[in-house]
Amino acid sequence: MDLAIVGLGRMGANMARRLHGAGHRVVAYNRSRDKTEEIVAEGLQGAYTPAEVVEMLPAPRVVWLMVPAGDATEATLHEFAELLAPGDTLVDGGNANFHDSRRRHEDLKARGIHFVDAGISGGVWGLTNGYGTMVGGDPEAVAPLEPVFRALAPEGGYVHCGPPGSGHYTKMVHNGIEYGLMQAYAEGFEILHASEYPLDLEAIAKAWQHGTVIRSWLLELAGLAFEQHGEALADIRGWVADSGEGRWTVQEAMDLDVPAPIITLSLLARFRSRQEESYGAKVLAALRAQFGGHAVKTTDEAG
Ligand SMILES: NC(=O)c1ccc[n+]([C@@H]2O[C@H](COP(=O)([O-])OP(=O)(O)OC[C@H]3O[C@@H](n4cnc5c(N)ncnc54)[C@H](OP(=O)(O)O)[C@@H]3O)[C@@H](O)[C@H]2O)c1
Repeated sequence: MDLAIVGLGRMGANMARRLHGAGHRVVAYNRSRDKTEEIVAEGLQGAYTPAEVVEMLPAPRVVWLMVPAGDATEATLHEFAELLAPGDTLVDGGNANFHDSRRRHEDLKARGIHFVDAGISGGVWGLTNGYGTMVGGDPEAVAPLEPVFRALAPEGGYVHCGPPGSGHYTKMVHNGIEYGLMQAYAEGFEILHASEYPLDLEAIAKAWQHGTVIRSWLLELAGLAFEQHGEALADIRGWVADSGEGRWTVQEAMDLDVPAPIITLSLLARFRSRQEESYGAKVLAALRAQFGGHAVKTTDEAG
């Protein structure tokens, strides 16, 4: 089928390539020209303005946004909504908050435009491995797009989760789980690294991929990271970003009174990773000194 991919970053460009490879006609568009030119050089069709995107698509049009969640998605969505006609569909494949997606569905419905929220997983490997595709939306909006979802996903990797917002909701929880799994691997490898045994972490990560209970794609990536950077990961700082979904998962758990200690603590571990020095730990040290006369390491003291 015909569709536009808007936003040719790490995700959008490869998704456009995968869909093109599967025989879909993709009109590729990016805010800055260079990324569009790059993909046009590979044989895909490119547009250089939103108006051109709309002109190049047959009605009913399908425009898939793949831009950062928040303001960028909001602005791009409104820009295209102004140009689209009743019966057209806007898909948001970014990691939007499901509350925003529900609101956007309602706003666009009032204008006769379908809105579909698609949670996409697979990162930069999705081009070859396929993308986990978690879709929310009205059945009449989702059904015509299924050939596209099935082309993006590997065999069995597409699910229509339910009504509007449920695709992004499912992706949010997926990412919360990802935080917890990553944290468990990180802690396990730190224990192995600190051990008195001279353990080969790359060999262990790779061996664990065969027959063990904890084999997984994340573990495969850990093996690859040790292979590429060395076991000490000397060129990588222990500074870890979080991009929203972990916080939203924790917030949702609290709203539902669901105890989710692992996901919550793994989010907090990322906060801690970004502090050069913990102010809370300073308070702890100061308090111990106050009540018990315990030794305090001063800031000019090494170690
Ligand atoms: N990376 C992942 O592993 C991953 C996985 C699943 C989902 N996602 C989600 O997928 C979406 C895209 O992620 P990404 O990793 O591909 O991001 P990215 O590599 O940073 O690319 C973002 C793209 O959006 C465009 N853009 C940024 N701000 C914009 C704005 N205000 N208006 C219009 N276009 C704008 C950029 O255009 P310019 O070239 O002009 O800057 C760029 O092409 C995000 O919502 C992200 O959360 C990412």
